[in-house]
Amino acid sequence: MRTQVCIIGGGPSGLLLSQILHRAGIDTVVLERKSRDYVLGRIRAGVLEWGTVELLRSAGVGARMDAEGFAHDGTFLALQNRGFRIDFRQLTGKQVMVYGQTEVTRDLYDARAAAEGKILHGVEGVTLHDPDGDAPFVSYVLNGTEHRVDCDYIAGCDGFHGVSRTSVPAAVRKEYERTYPFGWLGILSQTPPVSHELIYANHARGFALCSMRNRHLSRYYIQAPLDDPIEKWTDDRFWDELRRRIPDDAAQSLVTGPSVEKSLAPLRSFVAEPMRWGRLFLVGDAAHIVPPTGAKGLNLAMSDVHYLSRALIAYYRDRDVGGIDRYAATALARAWKAIRFSWWFTTTMHRFPDQSEFDQRIQESELEYLEHSAAAQTVLAENYIGLPY
Ligand code: APR
Ligand code: PHB
Repeated sequence: MRTQVCIIGGGPSGLLLSQILHRAGIDTVVLERKSRDYVLGRIRAGVLEWGTVELLRSAGVGARMDAEGFAHDGTFLALQNRGFRIDFRQLTGKQVMVYGQTEVTRDLYDARAAAEGKILHGVEGVTLHDPDGDAPFVSYVLNGTEHRVDCDYIAGCDGFHGVSRTSVPAAVRKEYERTYPFGWLGILSQTPPVSHELIYANHARGFALCSMRNRHLSRYYIQAPLDDPIEKWTDDRFWDELRRRIPDDAAQSLVTGPSVEKSLAPLRSFVAEPMRWGRLFLVGDAAHIVPPTGAKGLNLAMSDVHYLSRALIAYYRDRDVGGIDRYAATALARAWKAIRFSWWFTTTMHRFPDQSEFDQRIQESELEYLEHSAAAQTVLAENYIGLPY
């Protein structure tokens, strides 16, 4: 088989890239190792930057998001059960959209199916050949038979555990990493959200987050030790702990119910450079991971897709390689700023096992400063709603 751009991975990055390229008349093949149902079963964050909203609309996949998503003008931060609000709209003129990543992925799958896009599920043994040569190809096994896709370019959209990043030789690859000594225990419950906007809470017992998917479906998280067995966290214990950490008024009005999903996830910051190796581009989680505080993961993947799709369109339309040559530097410059913001927000909001009283006072001062300084609030707001592309 031959295509122009072979896309490894059918998560949000790979699907959006194939959708945008398709609309520009560029042929792609997406190779995904899991089934569509498996990909759509993954629960991820749910806050879209305005740049992501506009990108999805311009790719023709914004209709359901616009009908069912919720535009938020601000968010609440809390310190020891007392909350204050950051007004994004007043500070930056922009909002964010609350719409689950799972729904974004579903809309992308529907759009690709409607256009009869080539997405192969259940592929095994994906291997990249000569990504830095003039005639790269990708081999894979499907239903026991080996196949190959010859292509002009390869887009590595295969997430943190994919094969693309490790196809960049170790001698040229540099990786930066920070792991955090705690996890996020998250639940999804069929209950009305406790607040009309998100609440990020710093508390002596640990961080908590109140989020939502829609009027009847809430998403809550609490910071928890990574080695805690999940069975220990009964629903009742989760709700009790959440109530202790959030603002008093929210704790009183919290509606609880049985969880429909519960999981404990680690937090990590990670960047791999370079994001381009010859004819291979790394996109999204394949190149960088952020901790979930601030919900930057999907948004960062979407801005990578924006830069790469624009570069490939310029190449196929005008044989202009400028965007391709600049992709790695442009995408990394934006990624590092989101890495910084997510690290700062995580560090400011969580309780670290080795936190001293000094560290504690610094955290409290940071939040008190944020509560009263329009300048500090603007810094948070412009990063939260998303830095420009
Ligand atoms: N061969 C084929 N497909 C693969 C391989 C492989 N060797 N390895 C991984 N994949 C697939 C995964 O099954 C997954 O569906 O690549 C896809 C990668 O998707 P994601 O991990 O979702 O990464 P990405 O599309 O970059 O999305 C950005 O933002 O909010 C964050 O982590 C969150 O998924 C989110 C990400
Ligand atoms: C979520 O709704 O899952 C969510 C929201 C905001 C975050 C992280 C996760 O910062």
